[in-house]
Amino acid sequence: MERGNIALCIILVAAVYVVVGAHLNPTGRYYIDDITGYKFPYYANLDLSTENSSVTKLILVIHGGQRNAIDYYNLLYNIAQSTNTLPKTAIVAPHFLCWKDNPTLDVLSFDCDGWLRGLASVNKDTIYSFTVLDWLLIAGAMRFPHLTEIIVVGHSAGGQTVQRYGASTTKGITEVLRVPVKYVVVNPGTYMYLDDKRLSHSAHHQLKYRCPALSGSSLCNFTASDFVGPYWRVGSCPEYNSGKYGLENSEGYIRNVPANTIIQRYPSRNFTYLLGDLDVKLTRPLDLHCAANATGYSRKQRGLVWEKYLYLTQNVSNTTQVFKIVPHCGHEMTCMFNSSEFRAEMGSPTDPIGLVHSRRL
Ligand SMILES: *[C@@H]1O[C@H](CO)[C@@H](O)[C@H](O)[C@H]1NC(C)=O
Ligand SMILES: *[C@@H]1O[C@H](CO)[C@@H](O)[C@H](O)[C@H]1NC(C)=O
Ligand SMILES: *[C@@H]1O[C@H](CO)[C@@H](O)[C@H](O)[C@H]1NC(C)=O
Ligand SMILES: *[C@@H]1O[C@H](CO)[C@@H](O)[C@H](O)[C@H]1NC(C)=O
Ligand SMILES: *[C@@H]1O[C@H](CO)[C@@H](O)[C@H](O)[C@H]1NC(C)=O
Ligand SMILES: *[C@@H]1O[C@H](CO)[C@@H](O)[C@H](O)[C@H]1NC(C)=O
Ligand SMILES: *[C@@H]1O[C@H](CO)[C@@H](O)[C@H](O)[C@H]1NC(C)=O
Repeated sequence: MERGNIALCIILVAAVYVVVGAHLNPTGRYYIDDITGYKFPYYANLDLSTENSSVTKLILVIHGGQRNAIDYYNLLYNIAQSTNTLPKTAIVAPHFLCWKDNPTLDVLSFDCDGWLRGLASVNKDTIYSFTVLDWLLIAGAMRFPHLTEIIVVGHSAGGQTVQRYGASTTKGITEVLRVPVKYVVVNPGTYMYLDDKRLSHSAHHQLKYRCPALSGSSLCNFTASDFVGPYWRVGSCPEYNSGKYGLENSEGYIRNVPANTIIQRYPSRNFTYLLGDLDVKLTRPLDLHCAANATGYSRKQRGLVWEKYLYLTQNVSNTTQVFKIVPHCGHEMTCMFNSSEFRAEMGSPTDPIGLVHSRRL
């Protein structure tokens, strides 16, 4: 056996152990029992502890800041149902609970802002939110022998999760899972930058006309030389490249992955970024931290700037990483997920969600 295969076997054996105790609770959610005795809840159309050889696609959908996993589950379920692809699609919606959800003590719970950036569970400091995502993907790769496609998708805070997870995961990747993985990042408030370059002082002042992010506009004509490091406002915003905003002073799961590894691998990973054309409001819950403002003001503008940054400074090509503006949608998950752009990404291009099915587990 090659070294890579041995590593995969070890990971898979660990995963069997992890998901073998999955069971349905009375309200219809599933739990994975982790090896230390804590449980982690997820909504799904099938149990990740049982094999299913008809499943060819696994969609892992991450909720937003409201942690309403069931709503995201329902949207994806409706899309798959309306295209008659449900029997071969596994939809998995992990539920990251925080204190506001009154979790019981035996359930893994997280800091209300920490789960989206890979921090450890509050009751088990060796288990990070991204570790759980790794487990779910490994379980899927094991249980569905005919899997041909894995999609990890999230909106808003979930989009932030997917960008950071897709950048840093060492397990939820094609090379380990042996199935192509695509990360779909929808309307995130911020991105984890890969180095200390940000818009220069003059370019930042030109945001309004060179990258206006108005409805109907995708103009953003920055060039490579408009990105310089360090950030010109570093004096008043020393943390602009730290924690969730960059690769300095990384925390949680990301701290365990060398920054150079993240930088080198990022261009080869498959990302699609979907930006709502009307996602231009400048009010909370949008992140208004100085480190976020360094990258643009609205979510749409930050997305357009991120696109330029990746293409012009990070050796990212538009064949592996694609940006799409979704017309008529603001910061609204239903609108985004019901768009033809989103459905094309899911491989279900026809039949918009007519709310044909409302599934309450
Ligand atoms: C799993 O397998 C069964 C039996 O082959 C099939 O009826 C079912 O639709 C499959 N898919 C899902 C998502 O449950
Ligand atoms: C970018 O676009 C703006 C607005 O159309 C224009 O005024 C400016 O000259 C352009 N800059 C470059 C470098 O192309
Ligand atoms: C990216 O997607 C393509 C097409 O699905 C796939 O062949 C390739 O393996 C993927 N690359 C990675 C690194 O996941
Ligand atoms: C970020 O920009 C917004 C305006 O879009 C402003 O209200 C907010 O005060 C700024 N944040 C900081 C820390 O300057
Ligand atoms: C850019 O990416 C290409 C193809 O992925 C690779 O061959 C090349 O070495 C990379 N260049 C840099 C500077 O990283
Ligand atoms: C990708 O980039 C190339 C070269 O920069 C450009 O010619 C092409 O139109 C782009 N494709 C898409 C789909 O944006
Ligand atoms: C989805 O979009 C279609 C039009 O494309 C519309 O008829 C339908 O009501 C929308 N569904 C939801 C849930 O917004």
